[in-house]
Amino acid sequence: MLSLLRFITCGSVDDGKSTLVGRLLYESHQVFDDQMSALQKDSSRFGTQGDELDLALLVDGLHAEREQGITIDVAYRFFGTPARRFIVADTPGHEQYTRNMATGASTAQLAVLLIDARKGVLIQTCRHSRIVAMLGVKHVVLAVNKMDLMGWDPQVFDKIVADYRAFAAELQFTAVQAIPLSALTGDNVTAASAHTPWYPGPPLLTYLEGVETAGTRAEAPFRMPVQWVNRPHLDFRGFCGRVASGGVKPGDRVVVLPSGIESTVKTVIGAGAEVGAAGQGDSITLTLADEVDVGRGDVIAAAAAPVPVTDQFEARLLWMSEHPLVAGRPYFLKIHSSQVGAVVSRIKFRMDVNSGAHLAATSLALNEIGVINVSTDRPVPYEIYEQGKRLGAFILIDRLTNETAGAGMIDFPLRRAANLHWQAMSVDKGARAALKLQRPRCLWLTGLSGSGKSTIANLLEKRLHAAGRHTCMLDGDNVRHGLNRDLGFTEADRVENIRRVAEVARLMVDAGLIVIVSFISPYRAERAFARSLFEAGEFQEIYVNAPLEECERRDPKHLYAKAWRGELKNFTGIDSAYEAPEASELELDTLHDHPDACVEKIVRGLSL
Ligand code: ADX
Repeated sequence: MLSLLRFITCGSVDDGKSTLVGRLLYESHQVFDDQMSALQKDSSRFGTQGDELDLALLVDGLHAEREQGITIDVAYRFFGTPARRFIVADTPGHEQYTRNMATGASTAQLAVLLIDARKGVLIQTCRHSRIVAMLGVKHVVLAVNKMDLMGWDPQVFDKIVADYRAFAAELQFTAVQAIPLSALTGDNVTAASAHTPWYPGPPLLTYLEGVETAGTRAEAPFRMPVQWVNRPHLDFRGFCGRVASGGVKPGDRVVVLPSGIESTVKTVIGAGAEVGAAGQGDSITLTLADEVDVGRGDVIAAAAAPVPVTDQFEARLLWMSEHPLVAGRPYFLKIHSSQVGAVVSRIKFRMDVNSGAHLAATSLALNEIGVINVSTDRPVPYEIYEQGKRLGAFILIDRLTNETAGAGMIDFPLRRAANLHWQAMSVDKGARAALKLQRPRCLWLTGLSGSGKSTIANLLEKRLHAAGRHTCMLDGDNVRHGLNRDLGFTEADRVENIRRVAEVARLMVDAGLIVIVSFISPYRAERAFARSLFEAGEFQEIYVNAPLEECERRDPKHLYAKAWRGELKNFTGIDSAYEAPEASELELDTLHDHPDACVEKIVRGLSL
């Protein structure tokens, strides 16, 4: 079977990219039928293995995104020569399409960077280089196009190559092959040009046919993320997945991560039949000699070289959503077959893709790239992206919309968290609550400023207190004077405000208290996060509802008036969103009902 090279072309239409790709496809027309069908089989995998993140995770992540109606423009074209098969990812080159480029580059072994000989190395060349380098592409072809318009002058070529090499030194490519060519006339594209006697190298296609990219390390240890546990009857338990790297055969010692339990491979089943061995890219079912607990998202690895496990790591992240990334907001993180809850605990900096400069950032917008710290709610098996793309790439998924919001690459684990353990306590929540003769709760009041949260919260606490309940009150205005005095009213600050308050409320519920939380808490995602910290039945979301016009009319703190005068920015309901609850436990109508009646409703629902 002929080897396959996946590459990406980077450049704009003006650079002659379409002409170049078109010429490669056209002039290498000797595509054999069997190669073609093999290629098509490959390509159909993009779709059929959608659940497992094969072909590098980014592609699948974006597949999901395409289903969600967001267009990613990456065209994969197939062609072949008697020497090799090719898949070229063709993406638009404008700045706003960083995510398209990253998608194309995520599966590429090589990048062809187009340069217009008349213009030389441009900022976009640097941007494209940084993106492909970030995605782990190690081989670059510098296609210096339109050399015919520069009279095939070797000095022009040499200057461009020298400029590029000076720039690219920091990106640590393994090989940079510069080729003087003309896509329009065909010189040095598929056949050597008579115009460049001074150029000793091969034409583009010949180079692509021969280049060794070491995309697959033959000696890489065995890794297989488990996609599915096949249990047709009690006597058979098979673990299905696609081999990410290395090989496996019956008798091999393996370890299951994250549990760390070892076993021996009993059988390897290929397409319906037992096979002697399997290698990278094969879809297989493994059975093990011992009864081992293995689930979807676990990784089975060579026992002698297990993959590490972490719940905190540093990563590069490309943001792909219209809705900016906010540190502290909970997302789902999907890495190989595993999905866990995660937060970006810190945005270290945003990278200017043009200059490489590190810029301070509190959020990431569409197409921006940042270096971040991630914390997951369970440890996940992984590899550093540089060492294994399949286990080193992840996507962040918006919890509410299910949109693929970001694509990331793990750089290294952060060890801090691994050394923190839950301290087992002899006096627990139940014991504390029993002493207080009550069921601890979190009563979470959400609503616009002026909707009546504080009034109701106050009356409610008085009422509970009088009934001998042990309570505590967390109020937005008050907590913002102390614990959260460093936070303002931007989206990021409100997310952090609510995260902290939710954590504090949890501690108080642990202490056995009935906690009344009165915060605008305008975002569904953070209220959902707060809810996730509590046991079933412990958390009650209470929507204190009054129409905006009524809140403006009441305006107890004269803040709406200020906001309308433009003296207060990001005011909820005016120029900052309030996302009303969709499934709260209780909704109070403070336009029609007296505060006492509202409190009555809450207390009735409590069954204290
Ligand atoms: S939240 O959105 O982060 O939940 P929080 O409940 O803590 O808000 O604080 C809201 C209180 O801060 C309001 O009751 C109001 O008194 C005051 N405040 C000051 N500026 C703003 C603003 N821009 N938007 C909303 N509330 C504000």
